[in-house]
Amino acid sequence: MSNKDVIKLVDKAAKTADLTKEEMVYLLKQDFTELDYLINKADQKRKELFGDEVHLRAIIEISSYCKQNCYYCGLRKDNKQLERYQLAKEDIIATANQAAELGYKTVVLQSGEDDYPAQEIAEIIKEIKLNNDIAITLSLGERDFGAYKLWKEAGADRYLLKHETADQELYQKYHPQMSFENRIASLKYLKTLNYQTGSGVIIGLPGQSTETLAADLMLLKELEVDMVGSGPFIPHQNTPLKNTKQGTVGMTLKFNALSRLLLQLSHIPATTALGTIDDFGRQKALQAGANVVMPNVTDSKYRSKYEIYPAKICIEEKAADCRQCIGGIISSLGRFVSKERGDSLKIKTG
Ligand code: 5AD
Ligand code: SF4
Ligand code: FES
Repeated sequence: MSNKDVIKLVDKAAKTADLTKEEMVYLLKQDFTELDYLINKADQKRKELFGDEVHLRAIIEISSYCKQNCYYCGLRKDNKQLERYQLAKEDIIATANQAAELGYKTVVLQSGEDDYPAQEIAEIIKEIKLNNDIAITLSLGERDFGAYKLWKEAGADRYLLKHETADQELYQKYHPQMSFENRIASLKYLKTLNYQTGSGVIIGLPGQSTETLAADLMLLKELEVDMVGSGPFIPHQNTPLKNTKQGTVGMTLKFNALSRLLLQLSHIPATTALGTIDDFGRQKALQAGANVVMPNVTDSKYRSKYEIYPAKICIEEKAADCRQCIGGIISSLGRFVSKERGDSLKIKTG
């Protein structure tokens, strides 16, 4: 179904990992039904570089407190309807140990921008590392640069900090009191500390254009991130963006597939947000370049309180349920769960 120009550009991207911004825009503007060539090429590239191995990252949502007010997010400070929680140090360590027992090789400590004491986080990292042979990813938002350093020295391996949108005007509008410059400076500093670094984008934010998404891809390339996590925007009723349109499955898959071709060695997760707006969202992403899934292992009694967006999947399930469910999804696609940590391929190959 794909036209000649699509085929030419997709071949160029697959071969050189490079496109001009105009070429990216051209592909992003195509109707999804015209892009089977792009999706298949991204799937092939994933297979060529990563094989059929899928890496699982177990997410522990350690605190739903957040001092920021991002316009799109249910955890924003001004959402007074949300009951907040913060897990105790012992609970976080116990959950990480449980994740390791379930066979996970990575745990992700995730929270809103809470003031969880940096020293305590460092102790948690050390304790988890002492008991388990497991990688630790941090996804705790922007903190002072001293904290990033302290946590790296404590043994953290990776840091996720999505830049969300490369359109600086849009960034400023949706992130009051935050600065795009500081976000990028944080990502660059994390890289100098030798963290494997992840960024990503919200697909379908109101006001975002295909030009913006092309700028996002350019920025991700420039930052040479080790991971790109991009999921669809889902409006939340207690935020300023409550009456806006949701991001689409098609645009999310196009963006993931282009990320695979343009940042070939990066890990790409099939996001929970995509699984939320489409029953087969994660399966579709895994067949469009993605090679990672990030199941929730947070204790069931807290899950509903970490409501970034509504109708999030996996709220009623327990850690073992999600592990089993995701194992089934992966084998149904003829793929298998990796027994390795899934570090950045860029590091392995030097
Ligand atoms: N829809 C989809 N993703 C969202 N995020 C926050 N709010 C939403 C939403 N309404 C994502 C952002 C952020 C992470 C906490 O979740 O990308 O990085
Ligand atoms: Fe807080 Fe992150 Fe949500 Fe922004 S996106 S309100 S920083 S949890
Ligand atoms: Fe949680 Fe499927 S991954 S229920």
